[in-house]
This record gives sequence, C-alpha cells and structure tokens, in this order.
Amino acid sequence: MKIIRVKDYDELSRVAADIMIEAVKENPEITLGLATGGSPVQMYKNLVEDHKENQTSYKGVKSYNLDEYIGLPQTHEQTYYTFMHKNLFDHIDIDEKNVHLPDGSVEDVKAEADRYEAMLKDTVIDLQLLGIGTNGHIGFNEPGSSFEGLTDVVSLTPETIEANARYFEGNEDLVPTEAISMGVGSIMNAKKVLLIASGANKAEAIKWMVEGEISEELPASALRNHDDVIVVVDEDAASLLTK
Ligand code: PGA
Repeated sequence: MKIIRVKDYDELSRVAADIMIEAVKENPEITLGLATGGSPVQMYKNLVEDHKENQTSYKGVKSYNLDEYIGLPQTHEQTYYTFMHKNLFDHIDIDEKNVHLPDGSVEDVKAEADRYEAMLKDTVIDLQLLGIGTNGHIGFNEPGSSFEGLTDVVSLTPETIEANARYFEGNEDLVPTEAISMGVGSIMNAKKVLLIASGANKAEAIKWMVEGEISEELPASALRNHDDVIVVVDEDAASLLTK
C-alpha cells in the first residue's frame, strides 16, 4: 500500500486526476472501475478540464461503476447513473456502450446483481477508483461484509444513510436503504486500486485501514492484501496516522 499525503482536497483531486489521466494515456483501451460520492467530484472536474484542454480521449475506455441505489428510477437526480453522467460521462468522449453501472430500478435486483458480476467475470478492471466510508466501507460493502463477496444486493447501515442524507434534502427517510454493490472480492480482482480520502471524518477509517487489524469489520482493510494500491489522503484524513 503506497500512501501519498497531500495538503487538501484540491491537491488530492489534482494528484488523483493525474494518476487517472496517465493511466488512460498509457492504455487508451483501459478498463476503469469508477466511484461516486463527494470524494471524486473535483477529480472528475479535472478529468473533464484535461479532456477539453489536452484532448485526452476516452473513446476506447470502458468503465464499470461500483454500485447503485435500489428503488430509484434510473434518471432520478440522485442515482449514481445520473451522478456519473452529470459529473463525467456527458463531458468526455466515452462511448455510452462502454459504460456500465448496476441498474437498481429493475424488479429483480438479485438477477441484476448476478448479471453485473457475470460481466465483471469476463473483464479485468485495470484501475479501480475507490472512496472510503466513515465506517470503512468500500463500494456499499458495510462492516461485516465478506472479503470474498461478489456483486450483490446489500443493505446500507444507519451511518451510511446518515452520511448520504445530505444528497436527499437532509432527510434520512428519503435515502434508499439498499443498493447493488460490487463485493469486496470483486473489487480485489482489480489490477490496481486508487483510493482517495479527504477530511477529518475519514481519519479513523484511514488509520484502521493503514495501521489497524485486517478485518471484515473494516472492509477497506482488505486492500492491505492487494499488492498494488495507491492511497491519496489529505492532511485531515491522514491526521491519525502515526507514521
Ligand atoms: P464520500 O463517500 O466520497 O461521499 O465521502 C465515500 C464512500 O462512502 O465510499
């Protein structure tokens, strides 16, 4: 696990974007694993800016997103489908047919999770972007998730629902309680992982992930068993690290 410590969210977003852009330039047919949430928003802005200024092309790039809420129509403004289009896909030249997200609006969500995992089995994610929850989740794999877990229907913990209420008028009752998420095992199949974390509310999870016990109680700690992980953390998120 390589740790890159930066000053703040701005620098984190620049450093993470540079890693992504370099990877795309090196392999224009790269398969990316992508993430949503507050952490990557500025990084995606940087990718869009770079695409406009330097014409970095995503024409041959494939993408697979980590997760999606269950129970919202796909075009609802808070789905991850909408997030990805609004923050990235609508502003770059990626081919819509190369874009993949689980669909949480279908009736048979278990079959959808299985369909998604079957697609992942047929591909190799070259670079997987991750955020981390305040409780150490990756994707929507909450504490206690199996390290071997594959894409599945999962329940969100109260902590995650509380953290995400800010996107739902601050109303926890509006936050979906379930999602389809790639499992920790699916994530661990990626060739390389880039995890970004910013802010003091991530400090405890980062400390545990980097220095604590490897345990399913902190899903992100599984990444210590992966041999190519880059963690970019700002000062606040790194504030509890002892080294
Ligand atoms: P955030 O979420 O980027 O909105 O903090 C990260 C996560 O829950 O994985």
